[in-house]
Amino acid sequence: MDGIVTMQRIIVSNAKGGSGKSTIATNLASHLARNKKVSLFDYDPQGSSMHWLRLRDKERSLIHSVAAHRKSMNAVATEAFQLRVPANTDHVICDTPAAMNKQDLAQLVQNADVILIPVCPSPIDIHVATRFIGDLLIIGKARAHNVSIGVIANRVRTNTIMYKKLVQFLKSLSIPFVAAFRDTQHYHRAAEVGAGVNELPGFSRFRDDTQWEALVRWLDDAPVAPELLARASAQMLSYRDAAEGKALWKRLRS
Ligand SMILES: Nc1ncnc2c1ncn2[C@@H]1O[C@H](COP(=O)(O)OP(=O)(O)O)[C@@H](O)[C@H]1O
Ligand SMILES: [Mg+2]
Repeated sequence: MDGIVTMQRIIVSNAKGGSGKSTIATNLASHLARNKKVSLFDYDPQGSSMHWLRLRDKERSLIHSVAAHRKSMNAVATEAFQLRVPANTDHVICDTPAAMNKQDLAQLVQNADVILIPVCPSPIDIHVATRFIGDLLIIGKARAHNVSIGVIANRVRTNTIMYKKLVQFLKSLSIPFVAAFRDTQHYHRAAEVGAGVNELPGFSRFRDDTQWEALVRWLDDAPVAPELLARASAQMLSYRDAAEGKALWKRLRS
């Protein structure tokens, strides 16, 4: 049962639909599966990750699949869950639905080693992500559970004002900003055949490989930073204060 002890549980989550949870969960799975043993859990009843796995060619690197959407996040901690993961699994990646109740959210934090939060460059996306990060820290008590949290900018166009605002915002958060993935049709092309962008011919020329490598490197030790989470919690509490929240919203819109 050694594998279970060292297994890294990575949860990709955000209350905003369309922020790239399934895209990042599936691409991360294909990226890590090149040389690691990976299981992909789909907690979303929409089943995007399971659909992707069904399309996946048997010749590609193996990703163990678990359709988990009928289970609560609590299942991740149970023995029954661990039995569904092959021995010596290195990474469990969980794709999650946009809508989660407080109980699911708390269980998510309790059962994660790493939480990755994809955020798209738009005021609404930033606003929803801010609330979600606040919920993870305040309701989920992320700091008490030794969770490592990383934010990812997704669907970025680097020379836009909105992207600059997103980066400025993410950097102000005291939460590691671990990758930025550009907006490219390659993600659609790859998804159509159950592949990750890293498996498309010519990937190394796409300019996306360095971003994926950066994320994989960060995941190697995914440092837990209680002092940063403490600072982020205080910041999130201040955003819940009506005036501060309004000021943030105004900055994002202007
Ligand atoms: N970096 C990206 N570039 C281009 N399209 C993307 C990117 N990330 C996600 N998408 C597209 O955006 C849509 C929503 O992404 P998805 O991963 O399904 O979001 P979620 O799971 O958070 O609802 C999908 O059509 C997906 O192909
Ligand atoms: Mg999804």
